[in-house]
Amino acid sequence: MKSIAIMALIAAVSLTAAEKKVDGEQVFDQKCASCHIKMITKPELKKIFKTVKAPPMIEVSNQLKKNIKIVEDIDDEIHRAVTIAFIKDYVIYPDLDKSMCEAMALEKFDLMPSQKGKLSEEELNAVAAWVYDYYQGKKF
Ligand code: HEC
Repeated sequence: MKSIAIMALIAAVSLTAAEKKVDGEQVFDQKCASCHIKMITKPELKKIFKTVKAPPMIEVSNQLKKNIKIVEDIDDEIHRAVTIAFIKDYVIYPDLDKSMCEAMALEKFDLMPSQKGKLSEEELNAVAAWVYDYYQGKKF
C-alpha cells in the first residue's frame, strides 16, 4: 500500500510539470476522439450504440474514478495520480485483465489497440490528466 502511494505521489509531482506544456484536450481530439465520443448522455448513446466503436470517454472516466479505490479515505491527489497512471498504462498496454469496463461493454468492443508510438510522453501525460479533470462532476 505504502509503495503505491509513494509511486503515485512521484507520478503526481512529475505530472504537474509535464501537464502544462501540452493541451490534453487537443491530444484527445487528435488521438482518441476517432474512437471515443467526448460527450454524450446515456439515452443518446442507446440510440447510436450499434455504430459506436468504443465506450464514450465520459463513461470511461467516470467508471475509472468509481473503481479505483485503493484505501477507504484516499486522498484526492493520490486518487487522481493513480487514475492518471492507469490511463497512461492502458493506452500503451491495453489488456482485458486490467480493464475496468463492464463485461457487457467488453463483449461489444474489441480490446483497445495499443497507441504505442502514437503519442509522446508529454501528450500521454496531458491527455490522461485531461480525461480525469475534464469529466469531474459531469454526469453520464
Ligand atoms: C482505434 C480505436 C481507439 C482509439 C484511437 C483509442 N481507444 Fe481507448 N478504447 C478503445 C476501445 C474499443 C475500448 C474498450 C475496450 C477496452 O477497454 O480495451 C477502449 C478503452 C479505453 C479505456 C478504458 C480502459 C478500461 O478500463 O477498459 C481507456 C482509459 C482508454 N480507452 C483511453 C484512451 C485514450 C486516452 C486514447 C487516446 C490517446 C484512446 N483510448 C484511443 C478504442 C480506442
